[in-house]
Amino acid sequence: MYLISGIIFLCTTLTVHHAAKILAVFPVCSKSHFTPGFILMKELAQRGHEITFINAFPQKEPIKNLRDISVEEVKTSLAGFLNNEKLTSLRKMNYWNVMEFVSTLGETYTEVVLRNQNVQNLLNSGEKFDLVIMEHFWNEALAIFAHRFNCPLVYFATGPVSIFNSHLIANPTYSSYIPNFLTTLGSQMNFLERLKNLFVNILCVTYAEFKSIPKQNALLKATFPDSPNLENIVYNASLMFVVSHISIHDPLPLQPSIKYIGGHHVGSLKPLPIKIKQFMENASEGVIVFSLGSILRSCDLTFQQKEVILNVFSKMKQKILWKYERDLDGLPRNVMISNWLPQQEVLAHPNTVAFIGHGGLLGVMESVYFGVPILGIPTYWDQYKNIEDVVRRGMAVKLNLHDLTEETFSNALNEILNNPKYRDNAKLRSKIMQDQPVKPLDEAVFWVEYVIRHKGAPHLKSAALHLTWYQKYLIDIVLFVGFLVITISFFILFIMKYIFFNSKVYVSDHEKNK
Ligand SMILES: *[C@@H]1O[C@H](CO)[C@@H](O)[C@H](O)[C@H]1NC(C)=O
Repeated sequence: MYLISGIIFLCTTLTVHHAAKILAVFPVCSKSHFTPGFILMKELAQRGHEITFINAFPQKEPIKNLRDISVEEVKTSLAGFLNNEKLTSLRKMNYWNVMEFVSTLGETYTEVVLRNQNVQNLLNSGEKFDLVIMEHFWNEALAIFAHRFNCPLVYFATGPVSIFNSHLIANPTYSSYIPNFLTTLGSQMNFLERLKNLFVNILCVTYAEFKSIPKQNALLKATFPDSPNLENIVYNASLMFVVSHISIHDPLPLQPSIKYIGGHHVGSLKPLPIKIKQFMENASEGVIVFSLGSILRSCDLTFQQKEVILNVFSKMKQKILWKYERDLDGLPRNVMISNWLPQQEVLAHPNTVAFIGHGGLLGVMESVYFGVPILGIPTYWDQYKNIEDVVRRGMAVKLNLHDLTEETFSNALNEILNNPKYRDNAKLRSKIMQDQPVKPLDEAVFWVEYVIRHKGAPHLKSAALHLTWYQKYLIDIVLFVGFLVITISFFILFIMKYIFFNSKVYVSDHEKNK
């Protein structure tokens, strides 16, 4: 007993002793970008660190050690991007235009953040920070915070390692077996798929290099004329957190400065609200959980789509719990709607038999964590890839929103519910995700403190960060060796010709002329 309280005492004093000042920058006004950062910041605050948190969802009730710097106006500035119509139109765009869309979105909110009065005040306050953690999402200019406060920088990717963030840490990007996530390719690719993957990767790198980074650089120079070039501050990060896990994503080579923390947001469960609890407990045939996330809302589905969905539901023996943001007439008796769902808690319920979701990474992570098969209805950006990944692992079925009919919808649902393979594979993936030496959130905290303890941990930085692309891929060496081989071959050929043939040829020509 004394030993335990002694250890607890020691732990608390140690935490307080190492309390650090951390600036977190998570300004995207979408819960799937905000929440992963917020969970980590809340935990760091609870462990005694002093957090300054730039975000668009400031707390209504203050949290100890956590100071919000609100950039709520990001919501207004991105309203033209983050709406159903725009996001579902991405499906019809080519890769270049998709990048144009997200990069313009990035440019828009980056500018709003840099020009925000409170942010400006902070930058000019002379405050000191031990670390800056920023979400990386088409916003490189925000790396200026770490430079201004002269402290280590940690990136936080609210998605897997990809062609869009690998370069920040100089992580290898082999087109032969690391699929680009704009495509829905898996890691086992045939010749044509590898060709396509290489092509899309080159397209993405070209876009970033010649369009996106210059835009961010211009933005930075416009706001802070005295700041160094973007390349000098962007490639100086100590670490990159990635919301990814081997239970979902394919194995990749990873630099030691990349840390997978997928599942860190899955936490201690709260009791279910009484109405939902009763509904779920009385479902002897099981419950299907249905949510399309916070951006594409179920109430924005077309009239026909809703009719299809309700018709299919009314014929099911299972109960359906649907995150639906308005009132809905003519609900079948087995369907309950709610404008908010405690998603982790309902997915964790033993009566839950399937999850109908849009393929947002956090929802997919939760489904995998609790071993629930997925009917995925992806609509934009990384959702296709997220769903494709779980389909490949045999725990999901994909249905495109534009293919939604009573027949396709009920077929997909029946497949998920009646073929035991989906449930078995979901359970298997769940075991893999839960089998970890340390909880992902604890691991994230450890690495944050590690970077602070080791003054930016420069020993983690790869030498590849100092190479140009042609040096990294040995193009200069290949060209040089190629040149050498060709030159030497010609030289040898020339000499051989001179020794063995030249005189004969001369002689024969000579004879001919005679
Ligand atoms: C690079 O990061 C280190 C800390 O990790 C910091 O001291 C240094 O000022 C940074 N360099 C630039 C150009 O921001």
